Amino acid sequence: MTAKTYKKLIANKHAANFKLAIEVIDIPIPEPASNEILIRNKFAGVNAGFDTLICRGDISYIKLAPPFDLGVEAVGEVIAVGSDVKHLLPGDNVVTIYRGGGYREYQCVDANITFKVPEATPEVLTLMPTGVSALVALEQAGEMTSNEVVLVTAAAGGTGHIAVQLAKLAGNRVIGTCSSEAKAQLLKELGCERAINYRSEDLNQVLKKEYPNGINLIFDCVGKTIFDTCVENLAVRGRLVIVGFISEYGNDFEKVTQPRIYHQLFWKAASIKGFLMPLYQDYAAEARERLLNLFYDKKLKVVVDPTQFKGLESIPNAVEYMLSGQNCGKVVVRY
Ligand SMILES: NC(=O)c1ccc[n+]([C@@H]2O[C@H](COP(=O)([O-])OP(=O)(O)OC[C@H]3O[C@@H](n4cnc5c(N)ncnc54)[C@H](OP(=O)(O)O)[C@@H]3O)[C@@H](O)[C@H]2O)c1
Repeated sequence: MTAKTYKKLIANKHAANFKLAIEVIDIPIPEPASNEILIRNKFAGVNAGFDTLICRGDISYIKLAPPFDLGVEAVGEVIAVGSDVKHLLPGDNVVTIYRGGGYREYQCVDANITFKVPEATPEVLTLMPTGVSALVALEQAGEMTSNEVVLVTAAAGGTGHIAVQLAKLAGNRVIGTCSSEAKAQLLKELGCERAINYRSEDLNQVLKKEYPNGINLIFDCVGKTIFDTCVENLAVRGRLVIVGFISEYGNDFEKVTQPRIYHQLFWKAASIKGFLMPLYQDYAAEARERLLNLFYDKKLKVVVDPTQFKGLESIPNAVEYMLSGQNCGKVVVRY
């Protein structure tokens, strides 16, 4: 190894948006301690919502004083192993998923928090945290069964496109929402019986007309008025899982005044549940294995957005790209 230093991206202050909060710095490449491995990151997942909220100091369970590291999941190659590490070798491919591990060119971590994977590709990386979140949210929070109608919002995004396919594989009829005809076409290819471009069609009207009995399970990534429409269209005993609320991440949270939510849920015995993957970690290992099997058996496709984001300096643009709703599939940065 010839490089002596590497770059990482940090938040050096809290700020209204990601771009204003961050800085790229150079630091020495460390030697791994006996229990550690040194990894050269090849790809990192971009999580625009999380990245923005953490830079704003708006994630209630994470209180950090700047400066702090950014990025979460990465896949890369093991460069060196500590003397006590027996299950990994230089040249192996590993995924890491922890706050601060993503937006950096190298990382030195406890070998036991890494997962060995067959290849260091954006597809495998996408399955690990993003696919796992989709699967666990549907099955555990959403109590997904079969022969139901399932609605996924931001369905052509990183999390959504996996959720669409898992709901279909489980034997459900799947509806997906998105903002362009190209995304709607992708959703049809992934198994949606109805793709609703909410920019050209009225989501509420379509659901009321075409699904008069309501939606049994809703996987909502978007929030705001899309969330309101979802709640309004829940079926009797329908379940809505709050996976995220990306429409509010770039802005101040909207204050709303309306009758309390129980008026809408009680008469349909419907429910709304928040989902946060870090609080469902006990399901992650089994989900990872199942997703990799589905992927290598060619039952599950992973769509990676084709826009090239290369290097740490490109990450603010990747965050903005996602928040502007342009991405189709998972957004990754390449190092
Ligand atoms: N709870 C958890 O543990 C967990 C884990 C992973 C992800 N998530 C959440 O899942 C959601 C998706 O995340 P992702 O990383 O996979 O992103 P993504 O879906 O790949 O990208 C974001 C997509 O959201 C939609 N969007 C963006 N801004 C919007 C706006 N203002 N109004 C409506 N739609 C907007 C756009 O698609 P269209 O407008 O075309 O639909 C955009 O392509 C986020 O809310 C994220 O926080 C939660």
